This record gives sequence, structure tokens and C-alpha cells, in this order.
Amino acid sequence: MNLAEILAVGEAMERALALLEGGDVVAIPTETVYGLAGDATNGVAVARIFEAKGRPRFNPLIAHVADLAMAGRIADFDPLSAKLAETFWPGPLTLVLQQRAENGIHPLVTAGLDTIALRMPRGFGGELIARLGRPLAAPSANSSGKISATTAEAVAADLGDRIRLVVDGGATPVGLESTIVKVEDGRLTLLRPGGIAAEDIEAVSGQKLMRGAAGIEAPGMLASHYAPGASMRLNAGKIASGEALLAFGRDRAEGWQDAVAVRNLSEAGDLREAATNLFAYMQALDRSGAATIAVEPIPFDGLGEAINDRLVRAAAPRDKIA
Ligand code: TXA
Ligand code: MG
Repeated sequence: MNLAEILAVGEAMERALALLEGGDVVAIPTETVYGLAGDATNGVAVARIFEAKGRPRFNPLIAHVADLAMAGRIADFDPLSAKLAETFWPGPLTLVLQQRAENGIHPLVTAGLDTIALRMPRGFGGELIARLGRPLAAPSANSSGKISATTAEAVAADLGDRIRLVVDGGATPVGLESTIVKVEDGRLTLLRPGGIAAEDIEAVSGQKLMRGAAGIEAPGMLASHYAPGASMRLNAGKIASGEALLAFGRDRAEGWQDAVAVRNLSEAGDLREAATNLFAYMQALDRSGAATIAVEPIPFDGLGEAINDRLVRAAAPRDKIA
């Protein structure tokens, strides 16, 4: 049974506010992917997020803020984090910072950690948070282990029987989740590549990002994530008949004419465009019924790092799902 109402951003504000005030969850568009949002200060609302997603465990969530003042009440900003926030917010950068005492954030948001992931989204989400006057906890609006939704229709198809409202802002412009960076003692660690290229953060901060797992950290702890139903074969130079093809750029892999379905992430070889199309095209090829989606090589520079990260997770053996 589908409960969810879908309302366009222009007509959804009052309904979204009423649901959030009542401790319910709402799916909202952000510039990266759709988020499943609940009041970050309300434990019942946060629990409903986990329930709706069917998360296998309580991963810490990103708290979304409306402005720097709200962010500053929640976490400690040293000069480096302030500079990153001023440069990239609102936008697809999440900063993991030390929490301030008595900040009102429910501990379920942070899974009891003393750090918190913060981000200021563009568009409807930012306005909604400002109107609510409280931060919103929001993971991507998909059931656990599934591809992140970049359209309201994809959210409704996945979570529509578990939530009441999907706010429709059209296809999300970035198409990939935010880049997550931990700031600690003036040092930056990349926890998850995403919608802002690591190079851009390095240019502003004047330092190389450290990489690699550090403790609990980002969703990549689950090797298999973003998984479509079909299996994925990466860096395909040749297409076997019966496979679907996720292409990139102008040159086609050998045998591409035999693919049961083809989507090109970016004909022009533009990684930004490819990021925007990634999840929707994986879903479309999955619906073709092919047992395997072959993926042409994608370069690693700029947003290519995040795209390859998601593809590797989508291709990981499914028994790695925790
Ligand atoms: O673009 C995005 O970031 C989207 C939109 C909706 O904002 N959100 C998103 O949330 O991707 P989610 O929950 O799917 O991924 C956030 C990840 C979590 O998996 C978690 O591992 C990491 O952020 N995270 C949250 N708090 C953290 C913390 N205190 N330390 C380290 N990692 C943290
Ligand atoms: Mg997610």
C-alpha cells in the first residue's frame, strides 16, 4: 500500500513542516540526492528514519543546517573548518567535527559519537530547516543497501509504503552524495569521496587530504552498498551478449551493439554530467532485466573518484552486506 503523497517543492512547505513538527519523517530533495529527513533533536523522529530505511545498524547520520550560526551551535569550528564551510556551503560538502556540549542533537543521530557530520544543503532543504528552526538528520532516501534516489519517483517506488510525504524537486543536480571530510587537529581526512572533488578541497585548504579508513567512519564500511539487482562488471573493454552497458564518453566497448540496454553517463566525457546520471542509469539498466551490467572505464580525476567508489561498492559481492 502506497501511503506517500508527492508534492512539488512550491506547494510542500507547510505539509512538510507539520509532519516534521509532529516527529514524522519527510523525503526531501537536496542538491546531491534525496534525503529522508527528521528533526535531529527528536529521538522518535530519528528512530523513524532508521525504521523506514531498514538500516542493518545505527550508522551515524548527517545533521543538515540552515546557516553557519546553526552549525556553530552544534559543533566547534576551528579556522580551517570555518574556511571550508564558508567556501563550500551551501553545497555537497559534509564536515565531521567535534560536537559542542548540550547542543540538543539526539544521540541516535551520531550513534553516540562525540563527533558530528554537518552539512548545509542548497534549495528546499535549506529553506525547510530555516523555517523549522532546528537541524534535520537525513540519510539518503533509499532502503538500506540500495542505490541512492535522485528523483522523487525513485523515492516513492522504494519507500512509498513507509513514509507519508515525498517533496518533488525534480532530478537532483549533483546526483552523488556529499563529500565527507573529517577535520581533526587541523588535518583533513577524506571519509567518503562525493559531489565536491578532493582536488577542490585541497586547493582551498592548502593541504593534501588523508585517505583510508579511520575507525567507524563512512558508509563504505559496508563493502557492498548501492547495490542494484544485477551484478556489475567494471572496466569492461568488451560486452558479452545479454549484458546491459553503462557507457562513458565517445568510444564504445567492443560488442556494445549486443547489449540488451545501453545508457551513456556522458557522451561528452564530462564527469559532472556522469555523476548526475549515475544512480538513475544504474536503476534503468537494472530494470532491463539483464543479469549483468558491464561498465566502461571511468577516469579517476575530479568527480571520477566518487563515481568509481560507488561503482566498486555496487560491484562488490552481495554477501558483504552486513
Ligand atoms: O549527500 C549526502 O550526504 C546525503 C544527503 C541526503 O545529504 N546524505 C547521505 O547520508 O548520504 P548517509 O546517511 O547515506 O551517509 C552519511 C554517512 C554515514 O553513512 C556515516 O558513515 C557518515 O556519513 N557519518 C555520519 N556521522 C559521522 C561521524 N560522526 N563520523 C564519521 N562518519 C560519519
Ligand atoms: Mg546512503
